[in-house]
Amino acid sequence: MPATDWADLEATEAAARLRLPEEVYDYFAGGAGDETTLAANVASWRQRLLAPRVLRGVSGVDAGVEVLGCRMTTPIAVAPMGLQRMAHPDGEIATAAAAAATDTVLSVSTYATSTVEEVAAAGGVQWFQAYVLRDRGLSRDLLQRAAAVGYRAVLLTVDAPIAGDRRRDRRHGYRLPTGANLRLANFPESGQVSASYSIELENTLTPDLIGWVADVSGLPVAVKGVLRGDDAKVVVAAGASGVVVSNHGGRQMDGAVATADALVEVAAALSDTPAHVLVDGGIRTGADAVRALALGAHAVLVGRPVLWALAVGGEAGVRGLLTALREDLLRTMALCGVSSVAEIGPDLLRGRVVAEAPAHRMTVRPHKRFPGATA
Ligand code: FNR
Ligand code: LAC
Repeated sequence: MPATDWADLEATEAAARLRLPEEVYDYFAGGAGDETTLAANVASWRQRLLAPRVLRGVSGVDAGVEVLGCRMTTPIAVAPMGLQRMAHPDGEIATAAAAAATDTVLSVSTYATSTVEEVAAAGGVQWFQAYVLRDRGLSRDLLQRAAAVGYRAVLLTVDAPIAGDRRRDRRHGYRLPTGANLRLANFPESGQVSASYSIELENTLTPDLIGWVADVSGLPVAVKGVLRGDDAKVVVAAGASGVVVSNHGGRQMDGAVATADALVEVAAALSDTPAHVLVDGGIRTGADAVRALALGAHAVLVGRPVLWALAVGGEAGVRGLLTALREDLLRTMALCGVSSVAEIGPDLLRGRVVAEAPAHRMTVRPHKRFPGATA
């Protein structure tokens, strides 16, 4: 069998799709509604082309940055994603070990299938993704547990006051495989997982929550799910150390602005503040990361590709993917004629290519299990 080329994300996704039960693949891959935002995220980076510099002496490229108080050897971190034991029996533990081995910052979901303590034990630098739950005491306990075992920042997700309409999950009746390990590990009382939000989220949140999360955890807080400049200013004024420009990978509101476009607005709004700007959604290559930095991001998060690598190769797969992304970033920086992240600026970008966005592969597949279908 040929060695896996972890830089080939399409092949990795295709291999993962063959391995995973259909409902799991759809839960991971899918977005809300017609999946226009899901597709637009990917396209919004690819439409922006780079103008590399030449003759700049790039023998020592250093991609290091400091974000949310953490030294990162590259500005690429893993996005928080729940239910990773659906991808591989080792789940979050494998992802965390791979992140630690490759010196990659890892975000860990509230909805993990291992506890915050188990994931922390894998080592490396980790950020805890918090959802604020109806049961505020439960939220407080979890934030304090995360802080106690060394998580370095909180990503507070605010784009899910209610669930998005994920049609693929609906088609599968929100069912996912069952098993002793397939539980929301941070909530001992929780039952079997499903593709719908099974712990009640709080839908009455206001900006004063940010100070509460910072106080309770004692950690810097970045608010995840910000898509507008005015909101970015509000959350920073309310005490956030940063924002994650995100539409939740197109999983919440279909029709939401693509992340590259939202980033432009948010970075401009926060340019005179010390707040850090992170971004996720559709980032797939080193060139995408450079595009994001050129548009004003301090770091990027990568989501689904990590799940595909986990499904195909467990810890080694995620290690392979993260290594390939790092190498691609360093290569792209060298080819752009930049030796450090500080040298990446808007001058590297040239106008947008208004090419037809590649149709998202998954939206054209036949709805095999559509209720009432005859064939
Ligand atoms: C997510 N995402 C997510 N976000 C979050 O704040 N908490 C969570 O528990 C999850 N869970 C989750 C599960 C799965 C299967 C996916 C695909 C995504 C959203 C995630 O952090 C990130 O915003 C997007 O996935 C980024 O987009 P890409 O890189 O997947 O295109
Ligand atoms: C999701 C939740 C877990 O996107 O945030 O599926």
